[in-house]
This record gives sequence, structure tokens and C-alpha cells, in this order.
Amino acid sequence: MINDLWYKNAVVYCLSVETFMDSNGDGVGDFEGLQRRLDYLAGLGVTAIWLMPFQTSPGRDDGYDVSDYYNVDPRYGTLGDFVEFTHGAKQRGIRVLIDLVVNHTSDEHPWFKEARADKKSRYRDWYVWSKTKPAAADEGMVFPGVQTSTWTRDKQSGEYYFHRFYEFQPDLNTANPLVQAEILKIMGFWIQLGVSGFRMDAVPFVISEKGADVAQPKEQFDMLRTFREFLQWRKGDSVILAEANVLPKENIEYFGDDGERMQMMFNFHVNQALFYAMASADTRPLVKALKDTEKLPKTGQWGIFLRNHDELDLGRLTQSQRQTVFNAFGPDKGMQLYDRGIRRRLAPMLGGDIRRLKLAYSLMYSLPGTPVLRYGDEIGMGDDLTLPERNCARTPMQWSNEPQGGFTKSEKPVLPVISEGPYGYGHVNVAFQRRDAESMLNWTERMVRMRKEAPEIGWGTCSAVDCGDPGVLILRYAWRDNVVIVIHSFHDRPVEIAFRLPQDNNDGPLIDILDGHDSRANHDRRHHMVHEPYGFRWFRAGGLDYLLKRRRA
Ligand code: NOJ
Repeated sequence: MINDLWYKNAVVYCLSVETFMDSNGDGVGDFEGLQRRLDYLAGLGVTAIWLMPFQTSPGRDDGYDVSDYYNVDPRYGTLGDFVEFTHGAKQRGIRVLIDLVVNHTSDEHPWFKEARADKKSRYRDWYVWSKTKPAAADEGMVFPGVQTSTWTRDKQSGEYYFHRFYEFQPDLNTANPLVQAEILKIMGFWIQLGVSGFRMDAVPFVISEKGADVAQPKEQFDMLRTFREFLQWRKGDSVILAEANVLPKENIEYFGDDGERMQMMFNFHVNQALFYAMASADTRPLVKALKDTEKLPKTGQWGIFLRNHDELDLGRLTQSQRQTVFNAFGPDKGMQLYDRGIRRRLAPMLGGDIRRLKLAYSLMYSLPGTPVLRYGDEIGMGDDLTLPERNCARTPMQWSNEPQGGFTKSEKPVLPVISEGPYGYGHVNVAFQRRDAESMLNWTERMVRMRKEAPEIGWGTCSAVDCGDPGVLILRYAWRDNVVIVIHSFHDRPVEIAFRLPQDNNDGPLIDILDGHDSRANHDRRHHMVHEPYGFRWFRAGGLDYLLKRRRA
């Protein structure tokens, strides 16, 4: 059972084939390049790779505009290369998740081309049409400021089509049983080629009712159950990781009361509160967010992340909390995006302060759920704010100090490699950090190992322990007979804290599993300790015999 639910104690690494490694010198990353870097990823210790879209696409939304679901975009290689890659990953014990983008297609998808060319086409009803411009056409844009409408007039057929995202991404009519059957077929296809599941894009929109006369769209949650059942029949251990930035009270609908829907969801709620905590040294909203999202079915799991390929969405914070985060991490308008977020990478957001970076990643590895690391984070890569929208944080991986950071032999990489400033590839690259025992890269490797050796975090029950200081977060994980305690100080100064653990953890010492500074409770039965600015510590309670206990479990 423990190993069957592999995603409970996984470490996921997210990357885009396009910007990871170019093997043939055309400036675009490809599967062969990725294949050559598999040992690097195995060395880092990650247990799953999440590939961003790589299917055939005009590439107007970085591949989230698919024009053929059953192929690899020729710029990245062939289906054969893909299978070589999944095989290579499997040999190294690494699973592969891929993006499943089925809320919409590209407007260059043959289905849409046929649908717009002929109202009688069998694909007409695969999309969402209206004869007139719906009253709400100028509402509900996902990319405000860039996208101007959610209904666009198609010149060919003279009708309006619905698109939740950009106008070149017409929404699929997901209520149509033929569309649903096609979605299953797409999943079945990639499962057969060796993937262990999907990161499902834009889930709330996939399951939302769509149409010109739908005023209050309801979600069709049962669709999620259909996806899940199909997947489990085809390959029992495959999972869906849902992208669904919804209110905590809605989460359970996505997991299903008995865990019969999605296995995993990204925890956007905790993500936003975490950034607020880092900006303000006030962890109270974070503790509340953890509490609000603690109820999960047994097989459910959170995906914990810091930054992803999109903007850091702060839309669920209060106005003043959001302003606090903007002031701290993205004060210039050019750093902000879509009126709700920050588009920078983490390292520049934190001013390159290694103490704060390590604090943030230590949290990512130790908050309740499965950590999802983004390529380049392991070396502290920066961003290029001269690039439009979210592209600033999607620059090629920096492998060495060779031209183009060793990403490509071409002089024209698909996106510019960061070459100047403190985050330029001359300073920040894998080759340098590999040779430095104290580098971010080697630290990340140690943290990944530590996280995998603390399954209590992935599996256990999490509760916050109060130490009277809202700038310090203490979490206690209990799982079977084991207890792990993680402590993070958000203060920029040293602080002394004291805390009492539930009775059963106060007898033996707390064993420091990162640095080796154990702690014993004083005569007052409280642990007293000093934390460096942005300091963090991971402990195991109950002495060293936890290994014995684990074996028994
Ligand atoms: C969410 C993805 O993360 C984002 O990058 C994309 O633009 C939209 N969905 C549309 O697919």
C-alpha cells in the first residue's frame, strides 16, 4: 500500500522539453537532450518528472494550444524519442507525468478548422458557439490586460466561439459525450506510451458548464470520476494532478469525498499564504490555510510548489496582504502581471538571499504534500523581465559557462539564455555548482534525500504547534509510530523560542536530521532553542529507533 500510492512520497521535477537541453543544435530543446540529462535528474533524487506540453502546437501559449494530441511536436523529436525517454526514466526509477490540456485546443487544430468551415461538420458541436455576442463576453478573462474577451467572432462561420483563455484557444464543449470520449482516448494513448499520469490543465474550466446562456455555470464533477475510473482501469497506479485554484471549501469536490476523483491538486491556497508569510513574517494566515486544506480523503494529496511557469497568483489574498507581497517581492509594475500576480522567478524575488531561498525550499519540502520543484530552482536561476508576460521565467536551463549556458550550440536559442547580471550563466550554472559542496544544487540534493526519508510529511497528520511567536512556524507530523517536527523562522533576526510538544514526544530528545543539533526538553517540559535569521530545523522525535519502527510498519 505504501509504495503503491507512490505520489504520497514523491518529489516531482517540472520541466519544459523546449528549454531544457538541445541535442541537435537547432536552438530548441528536445527529447534526445532531455534523455541525456536523465542521469542528472536521477542524481538529484527526483522520483517523477512533470513535462509541460510537448504535443504538436503552433506554440502561441507555450504549447498550451495543442493542434495534435497524438503527436510530439517535430521540433522536440518523434514519438519514438518520447518512448525512449519514458523508458530511460523508468530504468532510473523515475515516473513521468505529462500535461493534459483539454479545456481547449489551438484554433489550428483540425477539429476547430472543420468546425468553423462547416456548421454541419461532426466537429461543430465540439466547440461552444453563439449566433450573437453574449452579454457577458467581456467578463471572466483569465489574462486581463492581455485578453480582451471570452467570445470572439469567427469570420468564417460568422458566429462567436467561447474561449476562456486567449482567442486562439477555443474551448472544447466538454459536456459533449464525444469530446469526453476523446479525452479518455488521449489519456489512454499516453498511458500506453509509458506515462504515470497527468497534470490536468485548468480543471475548473474543463468541468464547468459552457454556453452563451449559462449565467451561473455549475461544475460537472462527475466528469472527474469518469476520468479517474478510466485511468485506473488502464493503469492502476496512474494519477491526475489537478490545476484548480479554487476556494478551500470546494477542494473536496475535486478529490471526491471518498477519494474517487482526482488524487492530487496543487495547493494554491497555501502557496499564496506562504508568500505572504515570507513578506510579512506573519504565519497566521498560513496556519489558517493549512487548517483550511487539511481535510483530504485518505488517497488524496497536495502538490506543494513555490513558483511555477505562470505568474505567482495572489488573487486569493486580501487587498492589503497582496499589497504587502507586491511591495516585498514585486514592487515595479513590470514585475507584476494580470492585476493579480508577480511574474518573477523565486531567486530574484528574494533578492538572491541564500538564507531566504533555503527557508522557502525547506518549506516546500516540508509542508503537507508532495513537493513540485521547477527546473532551474535547484541552482537558483533568475528571470529576464525584458521578455513578455510569463516568458520571463521560462528561459533555458543553465548547464555551464559555455556559450548559451551549454543549453544549445545554436546562437539563436528558442528563448534568450540569461547571460548578464548576477543570474547570468557565467555565474549560475550546474557545472560550477556540481563542484561546490555548499552549492544550492548540492544542498537541494541533500534536501530531496531528506524529504524522501521523511515519509511522515507525505503521509502523516499535520498539526501546528504554537510557540507564541507568529513569525515562527512549527509543524508536527505524526504517522504510525513516528513523529517529525519542522520549524521555520520567518524573522530577519535571531529569535529564541520555547514550545511544548504533546506528551508522548517529550521524553526522548528531538534528533536534528539536517544539522545534528539535537534538543531535549527542559525541566519545564518545553524545548528551548535559538533560531538564526530565516533559520529552519527538521527533527525526529522518539529517538533513533525510528528505523526499526519504520521497518515494522
Ligand atoms: C494554465 C497553464 O498553467 C497556463 O500556462 C496556460 O496558459 C493556461 N492554463 C491555458 O492552458
